[in-house]
Parts: sequence; structure tokens; C-alpha cells
Amino acid sequence: MFRSAVLTRNKKLIMQIKNTNWNFPTTIWFGQGRINDLPTACKQLGINKPLFVTDEGLVELEIVKKSLDILRQNNIEFGLYSRVQGNPTGKNVTEGVQLFNKNQHDGVIAFGGGSAIDAAKTIAFMAGQTRSLWQFEDVDDNWTYAIEEAISPIIAIPTTAGTGSEVGRASVILDEAKQTKKIIFHPKMLPGIVISDPELCKDLPPNLTAWTGVDAMVHSIEAFCAPGYHPMADGIAVEAIKIIAKYLPQAVADGSNMEARSQMLVAASMGATAFQKGLGSVHSIAHQLGAIYNKQHGLLNAIILPYALHQNRAVIEDKMIYLCKVLGLNDAGTDSFIAYIKNLRSQLQIPNTLNEIGIDLEKAGEIGEMAYNDPSTPTNAKPISAKELENLFRAAVSGELNYI
Ligand SMILES: [Fe+2]
Repeated sequence: MFRSAVLTRNKKLIMQIKNTNWNFPTTIWFGQGRINDLPTACKQLGINKPLFVTDEGLVELEIVKKSLDILRQNNIEFGLYSRVQGNPTGKNVTEGVQLFNKNQHDGVIAFGGGSAIDAAKTIAFMAGQTRSLWQFEDVDDNWTYAIEEAISPIIAIPTTAGTGSEVGRASVILDEAKQTKKIIFHPKMLPGIVISDPELCKDLPPNLTAWTGVDAMVHSIEAFCAPGYHPMADGIAVEAIKIIAKYLPQAVADGSNMEARSQMLVAASMGATAFQKGLGSVHSIAHQLGAIYNKQHGLLNAIILPYALHQNRAVIEDKMIYLCKVLGLNDAGTDSFIAYIKNLRSQLQIPNTLNEIGIDLEKAGEIGEMAYNDPSTPTNAKPISAKELENLFRAAVSGELNYI
């Protein structure tokens, strides 16, 4: 009897430790089974009739059905927009906004990977605006022209551990006419509540687990290497790198490993929190390739990363030494860190060149120019020209370091 009581108490304690609430950088409800708190989240944000936004691939899955059932069981009337594409488009936003306004929704549930969450955040933002979407591209002070009180509340529920869009104030949306990804920004695009439930990641296949996980790693590395004084972002970035290094291989090897899934979910949010400091050339190029070739964002980042580290080496050596020490590598320095990344990548079955995923040099010049104008470029570890970005792309396509 006594033993049973102790076990029950311990179990309760473990549940308490695993299920926790944070308020940084927004309200995060973390832990297994927290999806059941979705009705409470709606209530807390004053959402009576949410639009549930997810992507084409997820809508048929059990995790979506279960989440919608939870809403039904709690008599919450909802709408569903599930046509978000892998690289979300302006059209996705327009369609979602039309549905939102037609059925008079009063909030958005952003459910899925970065694409669904980015599209959903932008729908919540745009539903009450009078200006057009691209007028809110993250340039100068465009965001100040938004009607702030018309932005609807957002609940974000990530199902991958990568982009960290759930804790971000911006979205990346494809401008189809210009074949360019644009960042749409407003401080109120930060979700009011994030439900961070590792059980929702359980069925994510190993390749997507790997690609999205490396995206979180790249966010953390690029943020850490970005110039500028931001010790808070640096601290979060380094801790995220440590967590990802330990748990990403475990999450890929066994998707049902809830500890690994939990740690990766937290690390993804940390990576995105850190990159308020800025990103760099890896993302500058990946954004363009995602728009032109419609390839998975994390996969692109994973392939480009070692080449970018090589190109930036003159200014990041101290940081690379630090990261090597944090990871407990035998040698400390840029070469050692690049070797570690390459080893991790091959362990995750990620190729070494863009050529291996069907990208060639045909548009190299254009890509260099486009990448130069990407909002991630000004915070690259060192100032970088369009020509240098083109060379980085050429190196990543061919595997030839002498381009750099
Ligand atoms: Fe990213």
C-alpha cells in the first residue's frame, strides 16, 4: 500500500516536471498530452470560433483528427483551412483570409510545421488589414502601417521540431509572381499561446525529423555567429546547439522516443528565439532555393551549412572553438566543427551537395543577387557580397571549396 502511494506520488511529480508552463518568449504550455488543453487556450485568448489552419499533408493524419475532436467535444465551432503548401504562398494566405472573414472567425489555430504555422500567423494578421500582403514585407518600418487592433489571436501547435515559427513574430511567404520568399513581420504575429506537445511529433518520419532538426541547429549556429551584442540570444543558441547535438540523432533513430522529441521541440523554439539576433548566408540562399526549386527548407540549410562556415571562417574561429568545447569535441576550431557537422549530416543521411538533390548551377548568378537582397544577409557573420553568395551557392552545388 505504502509503496503504491510512493509510486503514485513519484509519477505525479514526473508528470508535473514534464508538463510545465513558460512565459518566454511567449506563453508556452509544454508536455505530453497538452493538446487536450486546446479548449482552455481558446478560452484564455477569447477565441470562440477559430479557423484551424494546417497543411495538405497533415490534414488526413490522426493528430489533426484528434485535435478537431477535442474542439468538437468542447462545443467549439471551428473552420478548417488545410491547403497550405510546403512553401506557403500568397495564395494560401488570401484563401485563408477569405475563409476567415466569410465565416467570421475570431482567432487562428496554427497546427503543423513551419509552413502551416507561417501561413496561419499571416492569415490572422491579414484578416483585418486594408493594405495588401506584400506591403507588409519586413522592410523599413512597413509593419507600423498595420491596423494593430485588427490582428486576431493565434494559438500555435508545432508538429515538427525545426522552424520554431511558433515563437516568432514573422512568417516566410512565397510571392508566386516574383518567385521570391518574403518575410512578413509584425510584433503581434507572435502567437499568444503555444501548445508544445511532443506526442504530436511522434509520427514525423525520420527524414523530416532530420531536416527540420538541422534547421533548428542552423538557426542557432547562424544566430550565435551573427555580429552584434546580444548575450541572451547567444546563450540560448549555444544551449540549443548542445541539446540538438545530443537528441536529434536519437529522435531520428526512434521517433517514439518522447524524451528526444521533447528536447527537440524545446530546442527548436530556442533556436527561433535566438535568431531574433539575426541569421546569415545559409538562410539567405536557402530561402531562394526553396522559392525556385520547392525543396524542403531544412534540407537546403543542412547542405549549405558547412560551406557557409568555411566562407565565414575568418571571423567565426573563436565562436567555433567555443562550440567545439561545448560539444566536447577532441579538437577545437572551425575545421573541427565543420567535420562534426558533416559527420552529423551523414549520420542523418543528408547529402553533401545541392547537386545530389537536383539543383544545378544554371541560375547561380540570379541566386547570388536574390540572396544578397534577403533579410538574412545583413546579419551574416561578416559582410557578404552578391558575388560571394553566388560563390557559396556554387560551392554547395558542386562540393568544390575553391569556389569560395
Ligand atoms: Fe530556417
